[in-house]
Amino acid sequence: MCSDSGHGLIDLESPGKQGNSLKGLFRIIICIPKDESLSPSPPPQSEFSSVAILHQARRDHVAESCRAHSASSRKRRVLTPGDLKHLVVDEEHELIYCYVPKVACSNWKRVMMVLTGRGKYSDPMEIPSNEAHVPSNLKYLNQYSIAEINHRLKSYLKFLFVREPFERLVSAYRNKFTLKYNSSFHRRFGTKIVRRYRKDATQEALLSGADVKFREFAEYLVDPATQRDGPLNEHWQTVYQLCHPCHIHYDLVGKYETLEEDANYVLRLAGESLRFPTYAKSTRTTDSMTAQFFSNISSQQHGQLFQLYKLDFLMFNYSTPSYLRLD
Ligand SMILES: *[C@@H]1O[C@H](CO)[C@@H](O)[C@H](O)[C@H]1NC(C)=O
Ligand SMILES: *[C@@H]1O[C@H](CO)[C@@H](O)[C@H](O)[C@H]1NC(C)=O
Ligand SMILES: *[C@@H]1O[C@H](CO)[C@@H](O)[C@H](O)[C@H]1NC(C)=O
Repeated sequence: MCSDSGHGLIDLESPGKQGNSLKGLFRIIICIPKDESLSPSPPPQSEFSSVAILHQARRDHVAESCRAHSASSRKRRVLTPGDLKHLVVDEEHELIYCYVPKVACSNWKRVMMVLTGRGKYSDPMEIPSNEAHVPSNLKYLNQYSIAEINHRLKSYLKFLFVREPFERLVSAYRNKFTLKYNSSFHRRFGTKIVRRYRKDATQEALLSGADVKFREFAEYLVDPATQRDGPLNEHWQTVYQLCHPCHIHYDLVGKYETLEEDANYVLRLAGESLRFPTYAKSTRTTDSMTAQFFSNISSQQHGQLFQLYKLDFLMFNYSTPSYLRLD
């Protein structure tokens, strides 16, 4: 593999050669010797190569988890175009972004609209959030022919952003069930959850579905009947099911915990000087907030939820939360 690393080191600041520099970059990363005593170490680099090594370690970790998982599971499946509907495509920069709701996904969609907009937008934050979620404003990989899909999967820079699974789950719960402003989730899911899991529900609660408790939501998630109803809603579906990290070999796994750094790294790789929009959200779901929600549910539910999100914990190297009660 090292023989084709003929591109030399990449000058990220030099404009106009994004396409090749990406490919060269990944060849070079692959060639970094594992055991430095055996071969000359790469030239002492900027902070850039330590970031590259970090991302290589994350990729290796996903690959190892996938090997372990496939060894222990008899399920084999191939992807179909329907599995690719979360993959946003930017042809110009040759990027593929797998969007995961509750992981800065609105901001990434805004950025993708700037990147693919041919000058229509310059500032991501000028795009209203509901606009970013209009499907026709972006191109998705499932809209291409099989040949085009394979070509893009092979040659584009593929990335996704992940988050601590329970923090993401509580964030989804708070956003969809505890806020008053959008009742569509109350109607679509809340009414069903109240009907199934609340004894002595009032007529009003049955009709509005507006006050789902975290305990009831947890019960809904782990109920085999929910699994039989079809895939989970994307806001609480696992990253494993949304982005298929064992089938699609992502070049870059960004983390919500280091969002700004990782996002700007992706943008630099794409040859863009654009900065990822950040704003301190005071309502952001934190680890201690997540612990509080979990303190309200049974240890049996802790175990069941951990089982449900286990692959996301494993693949993306999140440790078992300290508040988790596993019997
Ligand atoms: C996994 O997480 C541990 C503990 O946070 C960390 O020390 C290690 O470097 C991580 N590994 C990868 C591949 O990210
Ligand atoms: C409410 O949520 C639905 C489903 O996600 C979405 O289509 C709709 O635009 C949202 N409405 C508002 C006002 O945010
Ligand atoms: C925990 O449960 C209590 C009693 O049902 C409730 O008052 C409180 O709001 C819940 N806390 C959280 C974080 O869900």
